[in-house]
Amino acid sequence: MAAKLIDGKEVAAAVLTEATALVERVIAAGVTPGLAVVLVGEDPASQSYVSMKERDCAAVGIMSVDYRRPASITQPELEDLVATCNADPSIHGILVQMPLPSHLNAEAVIACIDPEKDVDGFHPVNLGRLIRGVPGFRACTPWGVMRMLDHYGLDPAGKRAVVVGRSTIVGKPQALMLLERDATVTICHSRTPDLAAVCREADILVAAVGRPKMLDGSFVKPGAVVIDVGINRTDAGLVGDVDFDSVMPVAGHLTPVPGGVGPMTRAMLVHNSAVAAARAAGIEPSL
Ligand code: GUN
Repeated sequence: MAAKLIDGKEVAAAVLTEATALVERVIAAGVTPGLAVVLVGEDPASQSYVSMKERDCAAVGIMSVDYRRPASITQPELEDLVATCNADPSIHGILVQMPLPSHLNAEAVIACIDPEKDVDGFHPVNLGRLIRGVPGFRACTPWGVMRMLDHYGLDPAGKRAVVVGRSTIVGKPQALMLLERDATVTICHSRTPDLAAVCREADILVAAVGRPKMLDGSFVKPGAVVIDVGINRTDAGLVGDVDFDSVMPVAGHLTPVPGGVGPMTRAMLVHNSAVAAARAAGIEPSL
């Protein structure tokens, strides 16, 4: 038996089709959706992510405004830039690409973003809304994972879900989103004893650790849904946190890398940006 592949490109295309329809309504209401994209420094991976995000936005009719700044930018200068975007009525969403150079305080920058323009869902207000179970912008990567599960009819309710990784961008919000959908959730991390045994209890296993091929077939319960959030650049190319060849014969569903979660992160950013612009145009989208 081999796992069924979860095709992130296909699900992303469905999300982008919906976003296009919403953008058309926004434009018909006289508003051009605008996304500010802030990129600090020269990190090649960040440059490539940002270019892809801008391309995705352009394809659905969202105008992205590029703010590339040198790594030497100061904290006050970066916070001023965010404040300018907050005050600009032509900007409905603000994306500050992470990670920021280490001399900058990312938490303080995120806290400056107007929560209603925080299309990344990183602001404490939006994370608080997630915890409280009320509507708000949800972080794109874990939100994209939820969309993938829904697309394939993989209902988390009543399932054991294990999230490996506890980052604020993925692991923690992912666990909360699975909990919101009635899964029984465990979060594992580098100090978890016998990680493989905990992972083997999972009906839904989400790997978000950033270590190439760390989870092999011995971590997977037969038939489990395995979602690989890892994007690791190695000499052999892009690889996930999951050892694909070893997990393929064990899992029931599996996301590839590339072509799995990555396209979903970008699609959900477009979705969130379209929603932010719709609200500014007085349209309350049904989500
Ligand atoms: N770095 C890695 N993932 C993301 C993301 O979803 N948004 C931003 N802004 N930075 C990231």
